[in-house]
Amino acid sequence: MKIAIITGSAGLIGSEAVKFFSRKFDKIIGIDNNMRQEFFGENASTAWNRKRLEEEHANYQHYALDIRDEKLMDQLFQQYNSDIKLVIHTAAQPSHDWAAKDPFKDFTVNANGTLTMLEMTRRHSPEAVFIFTSTNKVYGDTPNYLPLVEMETRWEIAADHPYYERGIDESMSIDQTKHSLFGASKVAADVLVQEYGKYFGMKTGVFRGGCLTGPNHSGTQLHGFLSYLMKCAITGDHYTVFGYKGKQVRDNIHAYDLVNMFDHFYNAPRPGEVYNAGGSRYSNCSMLEAIQICEKITGRKMNTTYTDDNRVGDHIWWISDVAKFKRHFPGWKLTKNVTDILTEIHDYNQIRWSK
Ligand SMILES: NC(=O)c1ccc[n+]([C@@H]2O[C@H](COP(=O)([O-])OP(=O)(O)OC[C@H]3O[C@@H](n4cnc5c(N)ncnc54)[C@H](O)[C@@H]3O)[C@@H](O)[C@H]2O)c1
Repeated sequence: MKIAIITGSAGLIGSEAVKFFSRKFDKIIGIDNNMRQEFFGENASTAWNRKRLEEEHANYQHYALDIRDEKLMDQLFQQYNSDIKLVIHTAAQPSHDWAAKDPFKDFTVNANGTLTMLEMTRRHSPEAVFIFTSTNKVYGDTPNYLPLVEMETRWEIAADHPYYERGIDESMSIDQTKHSLFGASKVAADVLVQEYGKYFGMKTGVFRGGCLTGPNHSGTQLHGFLSYLMKCAITGDHYTVFGYKGKQVRDNIHAYDLVNMFDHFYNAPRPGEVYNAGGSRYSNCSMLEAIQICEKITGRKMNTTYTDDNRVGDHIWWISDVAKFKRHFPGWKLTKNVTDILTEIHDYNQIRWSK
């Protein structure tokens, strides 16, 4: 029996991973207690996505458990033991702003929850590949001190800077910077995952995401940028742009392209390795540019306002350099850019969001 355990399985990345790996594994065990609804309210519930997975994938089994529950996690891992070949850990509290509201919950979900998953894997299935979705927020606000140039619709890094061609690589320090509490709890988890690779020799991999996106995101104001933006474009709901003149740039990677990275890593793991995982120069946009693309797709003007208050911990310019991953796994490439992704989010959700 070949089994994959996926935490956060009803979320954006978890559900894409279920779809991708259900064809390759005998059984997929999904763990998700819909805590996203507790974090962000009814509109962010991932229950619809869980239902869809259960209907579409016969070998998918859902457990509505909390990853922090050591006893239940132990029982679950014990049940499947060395049949577990892959663990993809995506369950998290994913928002900067929310973390400051309840630091205990943020830290216990992101840091303690990750430690629990690592320990269960070490105890019951130490040969399994363990993949962790970290974040570019582990670099804190260090990117905001890069030499940036203001262009008409975006901030851009100075053309003579080494990051200009490909973006920011993994050598940027994660120390002595303002992370936000969310960034700090993810740093703790990120370093733990590396350590289980380097210290215990487990097949762990850290993927530091830029903006992760796709049609199955339950986007809300506090999390799920492109999904929430397109939702407002379709419904006509108001959207607030926070700071930096709306010219802040982020790179956007489709959930499929990220999960495809996981597959390459699963097939040839490199213990304790860390990768920046984003849309890179291939797929990125500023807020203003994203709004323009949404308006083009829907054919009508969005209802937006601007406030000077930027979000604490927000990056002004972030483009991931994915060259290290490409060097290690030359068969992988990005397949969807921002316009492709927004079009897909629109087409897939138009009916559901128009109701
Ligand atoms: N979406 C992004 O832009 C982005 C960017 C960088 C990193 N990440 C990271 O990628 C991962 C996946 O992000 P996503 O966008 O798919 O998030 P998501 O919120 O869509 O999915 C996470 C899922 O985990 C579940 N969950 C949360 N706490 C849980 C707990 N204690 N026990 C069981 N289930 C729990 C939630 O209900 C949710 O369905 C997260 O670790 C996030 O920090 C996301």
